[in-house]
Amino acid sequence: YTVSVAGAPEPVARYIREKLEVTVPASQGALVTFALQYQDAVQQVFPQKAEQDAFWQEVLDDHIGELVLRGEMDAAAQLVKEMLKRNRSQLDKVGEVYLVGAGPGDPDLLTFKALRLIQKCDTLVYDRLIAEQIISRARPDVEKIYVGKAPGDHMKTQAEINSLLVKLARQGKNVCRLKGGDPFIFGRGGEEMQELMDNQIPFQVVPGITAATGCASYAGIPLTHRDYAQSVRFVTGHLKDDTADIEWSDLARPHQTVVFYMAMGQLGLTVSKLLEHGVPETRPAAIVSSGTLTKQKVYVTTVSELQEVALKRNVKPPSIIIIGDVVGVREQQKAHLQRIFSGEFSVPADVQARPIVHSGHAVPEA
Ligand SMILES: C[S@@+](CC[C@H](N)C(=O)[O-])C[C@H]1O[C@@H](n2cnc3c(N)ncnc32)[C@H](O)[C@@H]1O
Repeated sequence: YTVSVAGAPEPVARYIREKLEVTVPASQGALVTFALQYQDAVQQVFPQKAEQDAFWQEVLDDHIGELVLRGEMDAAAQLVKEMLKRNRSQLDKVGEVYLVGAGPGDPDLLTFKALRLIQKCDTLVYDRLIAEQIISRARPDVEKIYVGKAPGDHMKTQAEINSLLVKLARQGKNVCRLKGGDPFIFGRGGEEMQELMDNQIPFQVVPGITAATGCASYAGIPLTHRDYAQSVRFVTGHLKDDTADIEWSDLARPHQTVVFYMAMGQLGLTVSKLLEHGVPETRPAAIVSSGTLTKQKVYVTTVSELQEVALKRNVKPPSIIIIGDVVGVREQQKAHLQRIFSGEFSVPADVQARPIVHSGHAVPEA
């Protein structure tokens, strides 16, 4: 379809133009240059226009197009030359798997690359926490395979998911494996990549905004801050049978921020281990639940009261726990936002008045 902005008010036309400019990745130009380079060779091998079009369509659908967009020109050139040498399209082609991070929830946190691959894929294999607004960006004819788990559902094991990705790629499908947050942060993306490598399936990994950074930003908690925390650690709170794999005394140190993922199930044990290893009872802590979504909730407390707050406020998954002095910054941010929203702040005389535009879910809620 075409988008016409003729006759639209200038701000609307400009908005649409800007949207189109940012949605088409700058690297698409490389595809044109690449195609021009091989145009003559393709015409010689495929004299018919329909054959030439089919050839280029295949280049675009296949991972050759992806290689060009990633700047891997030599690899792309080699594959095109092989296709031309064989004088036929790659009937035996294997699809490519995209291991894509969808971010923590807010669909606006999707990257352009994630969106492009969601729109390109033949099959979408997705988890439970992926928003419908993200899934619905795929082509209408996309094959959707849900592999997430909700209480009571039959759950696909990781091994079943790994084999599914290989099977689909071997059927020649380009598969978008859409995962919450970042695929390589507590997402088992490493295991899926390993399986693809073992089976010689082409793949690419697209990072996503992980829950820790997404939740912290939307909650007004800087994970590092010159005054409070010089490092940040992401830790799993899923403690399996014992707690021996975690260096609790490291986590107890001051001047750092510790973020626990999957922490709610064994919160009591986590808190008692931290206190046992020297964390002061009053160290600030926050629970961020459904972070970055409009239903986000933030509960600010202290380490020793974490469990009580979680129980009293009936905290729901998905949630992360942020521990460290940086949590205190949220109170400053909250007060600042309250002043802005209540119109209670004064504009210096030399500042030109303009309407305040609020975006995101920066309004303090809990
Ligand atoms: C299996 S891990 C996957 C993490 C994901 N790969 C990432 O990078 O965010 C799932 C855990 O991430 C955290 N999580 C994911 N999305 C969240 C959100 N929107 N708000 C709070 N926590 C979230 C929760 O701790 C949840 O138990």
